[in-house]
Amino acid sequence: MANFDEIIDRRNTHSAKWDVMEAVYGVSPDGGLSMWVADMDFKPPQAVIDTLQASVDHGIFGYHAPDTSYRQAVCSWMKRRHGWEIAPEWISSTHGLVAAVALALQAYTEKGDGIILFTPVYHAFAKMVSNNERKIVEAELVQANGRYDMDLEALEASLDGSEKMVILCSPHNPGGRVWSVAELRALADFCVKHDLILLADEIHHDLVFAGHKHVVTALAAPEIADRLVTLAAASKTFNLAGGMTGAVIISDEALRARFAKAHQAAGASPNGFGKGMTEAAYNGGESWLEELLEYLTENRRVFDEGVNAIPGVRSMALESTYLAWVDFSGTGMKTEEVIERVQSGAKIAANYGETFGKGGEGFLRFNLGCPRSMVEDAVSRLQSAFKDLQ
Ligand SMILES: Cc1ncc(COP(=O)(O)O)c(C=O)c1O
Repeated sequence: MANFDEIIDRRNTHSAKWDVMEAVYGVSPDGGLSMWVADMDFKPPQAVIDTLQASVDHGIFGYHAPDTSYRQAVCSWMKRRHGWEIAPEWISSTHGLVAAVALALQAYTEKGDGIILFTPVYHAFAKMVSNNERKIVEAELVQANGRYDMDLEALEASLDGSEKMVILCSPHNPGGRVWSVAELRALADFCVKHDLILLADEIHHDLVFAGHKHVVTALAAPEIADRLVTLAAASKTFNLAGGMTGAVIISDEALRARFAKAHQAAGASPNGFGKGMTEAAYNGGESWLEELLEYLTENRRVFDEGVNAIPGVRSMALESTYLAWVDFSGTGMKTEEVIERVQSGAKIAANYGETFGKGGEGFLRFNLGCPRSMVEDAVSRLQSAFKDLQ
């Protein structure tokens, strides 16, 4: 049994989440709560630790090859957990998935091309688009019944013909939407109609709560295989982000060759530790994941119940991810005041909504991948910081 209640001090361990929070948010890790960067304060499955330990015991850290067993583990996971049969040669392994987004932009688009993002969305997408001198096209998600929907009609009306790619986050971060087959199919049709490559980042695919089902885009819309690139990884699922290993899965040979060209030009590949951890997690981490999902379900309940009790504050009901997306606009306060209360009052470091693009204003994102006691502490700190509203 995993012990997700265990408090593990991550300060002074080169943790981006804990050791950079003060520089970014002015919240000291001594006494403050770090709820921003999307990794979890949990140890991974024992199988992962055993694999790394065996490597340390062996003591030789040379080049890593062949990666046949890693590829097999990815194929097996996709089949077992997602019902998707993939071939080992469809996989390209990258130095994480942000790098994969950058490589896909270089492989399939040119400078100045329009890249469609459904905002608010994971901030590194926009960063990669602008760092690669492409043009960000923001298609703002609309809220209906407290959750996000895509508005393809509005998007269609805004197109100027320069668009070459859509980057989809499925499930969606932030907000946790699990897109339905109908929604994925509608988007696939849209991509065909406007001749767009669809880059489906499915990194959060395993972190889906009961009552919802993630459908792999490639299964929802098999007819767009010649324009579909899927991104997956074990890093969010099993808390292995430092392993910097992602899988780019492309079934169409010609599309894959274009990606391979950009990948080879960059000369970048992941390290053996990341592949080893991924393989160990996929082969030996399934029961750990089931326990994690139960734990996160309760964290979500405790957090939502607590913050939704503050007048004007609403946490979006997550269908997936451990990233609570909280709308403070109902308090009537300016964003600066909300931030001041959260950072200086509650001493919590949480991501600013506006960094996720259009539609993120007024929101903060809180990472619930932490021991329950920290979620409870965060709730009580937030309730005190806004107690004048009660
Ligand atoms: C949608 C999405 N893609 C990619 C990443 C990060 O990928 P990597 O660490 O493999 O670069 C994140 C991290 O939060 C994410 O939410």
